[in-house]
Amino acid sequence: MKTLFYNIKELFQIRENNNAILKGSEMKELPSIKNAFLVVENDLIADYGSMENAPTNCDESVDVSGKMIMPTYIDSHTHIVYAGNREQEFVDRINGLTYDEIYQRGGGILNSVEKLRNTSEDELYHDASLRLEELISQGTGVVEIKSGYGLSLEAELKMLRVIKKLKENYPVKIKATFLGAHAVPPEFKGNQVGFVDEICQKMIPEIAQSGLADYVDAFVETGYFTVDETRKIIKTATQFGLKSKIHVNQFTTIGGIDMCVEENVLSVDHLEVVSDQDIETLKKGKTIPVALPTCSYFISIPYTPARKLLNAGLPLVVASDYNPGTTPSGNMNFVVATSCIKMKLTPEEAFNAATINAAYALEVEKGYGSITKGKKASFFITKPLHSIYAIPYNFGSNLIESVYLNGK
Ligand code: NIG
Ligand code: FE
Repeated sequence: MKTLFYNIKELFQIRENNNAILKGSEMKELPSIKNAFLVVENDLIADYGSMENAPTNCDESVDVSGKMIMPTYIDSHTHIVYAGNREQEFVDRINGLTYDEIYQRGGGILNSVEKLRNTSEDELYHDASLRLEELISQGTGVVEIKSGYGLSLEAELKMLRVIKKLKENYPVKIKATFLGAHAVPPEFKGNQVGFVDEICQKMIPEIAQSGLADYVDAFVETGYFTVDETRKIIKTATQFGLKSKIHVNQFTTIGGIDMCVEENVLSVDHLEVVSDQDIETLKKGKTIPVALPTCSYFISIPYTPARKLLNAGLPLVVASDYNPGTTPSGNMNFVVATSCIKMKLTPEEAFNAATINAAYALEVEKGYGSITKGKKASFFITKPLHSIYAIPYNFGSNLIESVYLNGK
């Protein structure tokens, strides 16, 4: 089955020879063809080019006049399996409490843990599938989903099984991450050492054995997990064949980036607070920096100094961090807009950070992230637009008309 998409006003993110994440000034270019065609054969991109060379032998054709095509977003950092909501904490923050003060009162992550433990697997699946359907409609085609609101082996496995079921039932590509070290659960209060042992000796071995996780994560932060505890978790994960992606430098810089680069973790995510030393360290390693600008927006904390990272020649990825506490939104169009408006990325840089570069942060660059022959036909078609800049410019509008995943 061959489908021709014709009269595309502009076809974006065309890359036949990309073989490495884009760094620094390389992120400025978003290669495109104006007045283009695209041929999809079954689930793959088969051909593309200028309209004058469009083939005539396709089984069906779709008129894309006035509209643009972009590969689907890759959201490399979410927590969309959760129970209930944290709307009251949202109002508490408006009234002056900080994220940390809410956590100190027993709220925050532990609020979601209590709710999740008391929610059935079916209900979790139902709620998460609604979130997933919404983010697909907003243009996301690959998504990472973390556990981390269970914090016992049993409740973490429940979350990971929900993610597995989402993988089985939706055409979106999903990677699962085990986030055992998200907070210390009530039954280990005052015994953080015991909880880290539980993660390393019991949870990681069982979860690796189950095959339910692709990665391991931890929250390195003052008041959460230390650099040494996290190093132990990363090393254990490595022994069990799992790579790590780590929450780091959200509120404070305590040496997490140095350790993550030393341990060669796949990505370091958040980076709202980054020292010059951190940037020097990142330059020496292969660990990918991931910014989560809509988290900064929602809880009013600094934005990742994205320009500083790019000026240092580093690569950059942006993701949503969709979760009930710090970012209750998975709209990647808004992530791109916030990257432009608040982190001063150009639209070209922001789209690169949300597509091709993000593919590297989930190790799916062979199949996703660009318009490349042989890659999956996962892309979105916009409404008629003057230019692609409209997506970040009209930040509150939904400008995506349709989304194709694997050619459908
Ligand atoms: O990425 N900071 C750690 N984890 C999440 C927030 C979790 C929560 O508040 O529920 C984040 O922002
Ligand atoms: Fe997160």
